[in-house]
Amino acid sequence: MIYKDLLSSIGNTPIIKIKNIAPKNINLFVKAEYFNPGGSVKDRLALSIIEKAEKEGFLKPKQTVVEATSGNTGIGLAMVCACKGYPCVMTMPDSTSIERRKLMRFLGAKVLLTPASEGTTAAYNLAKKLCKKNKWFYAKQFENDANADIHEKTTAIEILNDFKELGLDYWVSGYGTGGTFSGVSRVLRDQSPKTKLVITEPENAQLVNSLIAQKRNQDGSPASAHDSWNPHPIQGWTPDFIPLVLQESIDNNYFDINIPVTGEDGIYWSHQLATNEGIITGISGGSTFAVAMKIADEAPNGSNILCMLADTAERYLTSALFEKIDSEMNDEEKEILSSI
Ligand SMILES: Cc1ncc(COP(=O)(O)O)c(C=O)c1O
Repeated sequence: MIYKDLLSSIGNTPIIKIKNIAPKNINLFVKAEYFNPGGSVKDRLALSIIEKAEKEGFLKPKQTVVEATSGNTGIGLAMVCACKGYPCVMTMPDSTSIERRKLMRFLGAKVLLTPASEGTTAAYNLAKKLCKKNKWFYAKQFENDANADIHEKTTAIEILNDFKELGLDYWVSGYGTGGTFSGVSRVLRDQSPKTKLVITEPENAQLVNSLIAQKRNQDGSPASAHDSWNPHPIQGWTPDFIPLVLQESIDNNYFDINIPVTGEDGIYWSHQLATNEGIITGISGGSTFAVAMKIADEAPNGSNILCMLADTAERYLTSALFEKIDSEMNDEEKEILSSI
């Protein structure tokens, strides 16, 4: 397949059936977004935001693009900007992995770090200030319509087409900005109403759950979703506020099921996917898969379940995901070597 440029290779990611670790009576599939050229689902929104801004005249040739990002959007944007000749500057919490920052810089972007203890909000405010001061183009992934729209136009249509014959019973996704969830749900609700939409979020940052439960403070006033947020290890998921892009899902009640997950479970299932299926996905992919396995355990025989895998494990080499993976030879390996 010959592509006219790198950006044309974004999307149309494969859906892969799980062979070895799914319950026997269930058809469990993953949509491998790490097949995108920048290694994550965020390539889609990066291209969408830039092309919409170009079309509407908000982005001029050589104008700097700025964004607050925990990594994958930064890599996607840096890739699109490199291709199209825009300088770009990313702001991100200093808890995000070294390889993400280095990849952005490798693609020619500048990376400015904010304290992790101040959450995504600090990176977001810094990007806003830079945009105002320098008249840069602020991509605003958390509120830009181009985000969910590209998932409506591409991700959702790919899913519909791929399950045209089989039918889809459950679709499982986490959220960062909510672009994937809102855009895909928009289409599945309308064109595949029998599909149950399953959202997941970190167990110690249950923003959606707290909104659904309408938690209250001791004085009876509604608790803000922020009160339910704590720093969590699932990079790319659940910022410390409800993004505008996710709000559409809340307003339209797109969630049929909400199952929280721990980072430890996510890491466990990411390893299981790698060692049993050869699937290389990050902590969030493992976390989404942990929830898909819970659904699979309860679902009726013959159910078709699709789980989103947002990115590649290679983005986590210095994170908890690889903590127990040796770089030097371990005893078992030394034994093999000494046996010859
Ligand atoms: C690493 C990572 N990036 C992005 C996303 C989803 O992004 P968004 O909600 O912004 O579409 C996820 C969600 O599963 C994720 O795990």
